[in-house]
Amino acid sequence: MADAYDLSVIVPTFNEEENIAAIIEAIGEAFSKSGIRGEILVVDDGSSDRTIPIVGEIAGKTDDVRLIVRSEDHGLSQSVVEGFGAASADILLVIDADFSHPPELIPRFYEAIRDGADIAVGSRYMEGGDIEDWPLARRLISLSATAFGRILFPAVTDPVSGFFAVRREVVSGAPLAPRGYKILMEVLGRGRWRSVVEIPFVFRDREEGASKLRAGTVIDYLRQCAGIVRFSITRRSGRVSREWEKVVRFGLVGLSGILVNMGLLYALTEIAGLYYLVSAAIAIELSIVNNFVWNDVWTFKSAKNLGGNLQRFWSFQAVSMAGLVINMSLLYLLADVAGVYYLVANLAGIFIAFAWNYAANRHYTWRG
Ligand code: GDD
Repeated sequence: MADAYDLSVIVPTFNEEENIAAIIEAIGEAFSKSGIRGEILVVDDGSSDRTIPIVGEIAGKTDDVRLIVRSEDHGLSQSVVEGFGAASADILLVIDADFSHPPELIPRFYEAIRDGADIAVGSRYMEGGDIEDWPLARRLISLSATAFGRILFPAVTDPVSGFFAVRREVVSGAPLAPRGYKILMEVLGRGRWRSVVEIPFVFRDREEGASKLRAGTVIDYLRQCAGIVRFSITRRSGRVSREWEKVVRFGLVGLSGILVNMGLLYALTEIAGLYYLVSAAIAIELSIVNNFVWNDVWTFKSAKNLGGNLQRFWSFQAVSMAGLVINMSLLYLLADVAGVYYLVANLAGIFIAFAWNYAANRHYTWRG
């Protein structure tokens, strides 16, 4: 019966023969322990292993498990959106098949939505959340994607999480343009929602099977971000467009800081005759002051709710110093340890430090 379910759990799969039967059982256990009347929708992209017959057999025995086999437009996000369309409950949840996401947390997501949130995001980056067993490179890629996503959605610590629940109205009729891996970004960017809560969880790397993340995933992600920004700018009213305006201003202020820094370094060294490292220290500090003033009176003029001027300044100063350390550490790690050409490594460092500076200042210095 269509309205018999409280919750529809969508499990996208591609070659998950080692995990699928066990995850279905674990989700079923989470339902029965919490008294949730739930259905499970496995949305498969034409796996070439035994995933399809295994799920087919389980689905043949119970109405609570359904199998959708797709043959066109291969993709994780596309599969999740198809699952949204086929689900029958008013609360929808997405979970990986490979136990990266703990199924025993499902009732907490369900309750969060039932208690009024529009979206509940499983976060690896808030207190209580973590990632186990990821190599440094994967951590760096994920941190960069997350930092970028957080510029668009500062209220969410893990906007690229694959573990989340959503109220049906958020996505039904929303102009989602699914592509690549980051379906949650699409839901946040184009869905209709007001409140989001986050639930910490520990991401465990899969023990069985292999990740399907490819190099093209990064390109897909950047294109997706650009699409979300374009969408909200054309709408003008979206929260992303207001946030994006601040990001652009913050970037322009950063550029003005570079000019101040370079000008002072030159003037103090060439005209005042100071030793260049002394000039550089003064130039860095004065460019921080320059950036603070412009950000305070222009970028974040409507959001000054952290204490007095001095308190905001010290917060900005601390964030900038940490940004400097992030920039230098990434430069060293990428250039010296990973062997990346140092100018490219520096660009990556600047990019991540910029994302850090923006997100941290938005969180600590200029909230609201
Ligand atoms: N239908 C379908 N189509 N499912 C897919 C596809 C696809 O093209 N590619 C992967 N899946 C399924 C997998 O079978 C698994 O259930 C889930 O999607 C996650 O796939 P993985 O390949 O294991 O993902 P990951 O561990 O690299 O990435 C996870 O973490 C990311 C955050 O770092 C996922 O949870 C992502 O959604 C998340 O963004």
